[in-house]
Amino acid sequence: MSFKVNDKITWVGKIDWELRKFHGDEYSTHRGSAYNSFLVRDEKVVLIDTVWQPFAKEFVANLKKEIDLSKIDYIIANHGEVDHTGALPELMKEIPNTPIYCTKNAIKSIKGQYHEDWNFVEVKTGDILDLGKNKITFIEARMLHWPDTMFSYLDGDNILFSNDAFGQHYASEFMFNDLVDQSELYQEAIKYYANILTPFSKFVERKIEEILKLNIPVDLICPSHGVIWRDKPLQIVTKYMEWAKNYKENQITIIYDSMWNATRIMAENIAQGIRETDPLANIKLFNSANSDKNDILTEVFKSKAIVVGSPTINKGILSSSASILEMIRGLEFKEKKAAVFGSYGWSGEAVKMLTELLKEAKFEIAQEGLNILWKPDEEGLIKCVEFGKSFGEKVK
Ligand code: FEO
Repeated sequence: MSFKVNDKITWVGKIDWELRKFHGDEYSTHRGSAYNSFLVRDEKVVLIDTVWQPFAKEFVANLKKEIDLSKIDYIIANHGEVDHTGALPELMKEIPNTPIYCTKNAIKSIKGQYHEDWNFVEVKTGDILDLGKNKITFIEARMLHWPDTMFSYLDGDNILFSNDAFGQHYASEFMFNDLVDQSELYQEAIKYYANILTPFSKFVERKIEEILKLNIPVDLICPSHGVIWRDKPLQIVTKYMEWAKNYKENQITIIYDSMWNATRIMAENIAQGIRETDPLANIKLFNSANSDKNDILTEVFKSKAIVVGSPTINKGILSSSASILEMIRGLEFKEKKAAVFGSYGWSGEAVKMLTELLKEAKFEIAQEGLNILWKPDEEGLIKCVEFGKSFGEKVK
């Protein structure tokens, strides 16, 4: 499959409808993904990015149907990660001397992954590749989301090839933002930002400001995953600016795990207390053992505060609580508050441990944790509601 983006540009990537896990098992892709690769035909011909390795042979075979490979003058690798460079080994067997334009860090990462010394051409911000009628300008975009990432901007057509930035893990045969279901698109775009770009928000903010100052026209944004932004393309840039600034809505997310329901009952009564204090707060509850981790992280991203609960087991916390808290720590959320709770039978270390883990994740602990012996009785339930009320007040 291929399609024309415009008279000059052809999409030659792969839509992966089957994909359900990405980055190993770290990122759920409920709606699949697309690896976008673009063939730009000017007086010179350039291929921008490739696809993930399992589709390498298919990619090269399809590309051959589109063009005599010897006619490709240049390859641009905006980013070295395997979902975009995975077809290079197969492609370079056919056109081994074709120059690959990329950043210094991308040369390191591509060499480190494939152990090949291809004809790399190192580029920096402001370097230009002249295609004849139009030119491509390179813009390094360090930590969006790897040190090697860059954008490529094609003048004349005013297209920003932004690689991972502004992408979504979202398979669609439509491939343009104005044609797809807008709520699905929003959900996949915010999940992608929350789970991949949150730790790099400062870099996102600075890079967008830098590009806006250049005052260059942008008619299309072509990310390397998901749909192309052609209708009001800057809408996703505006969203990224909003998300990059310690984004939060009036939402409180309660994340718990439970062995015999005592901690679940606590969670539900804490939710009731919060609701009594702030009826307009969007309160969501997730059992981390049976909910999708990346969906929970997206909700944490949207939250002003979270409440985390686990019973005590073996002087510690349940494994799903440990897992989600490790993911939360890694995403380096800012300006969010938290509280913790849990039931216990005899030793009761979970509350202390959860508190420490959330402090390490840089959450502000709004109040002392609630530890309840065995299953909450009437008095225990009142304590949970009061705990929720007090927390609701503190995060209002
Ligand atoms: Fe960072 Fe889509 O790879």
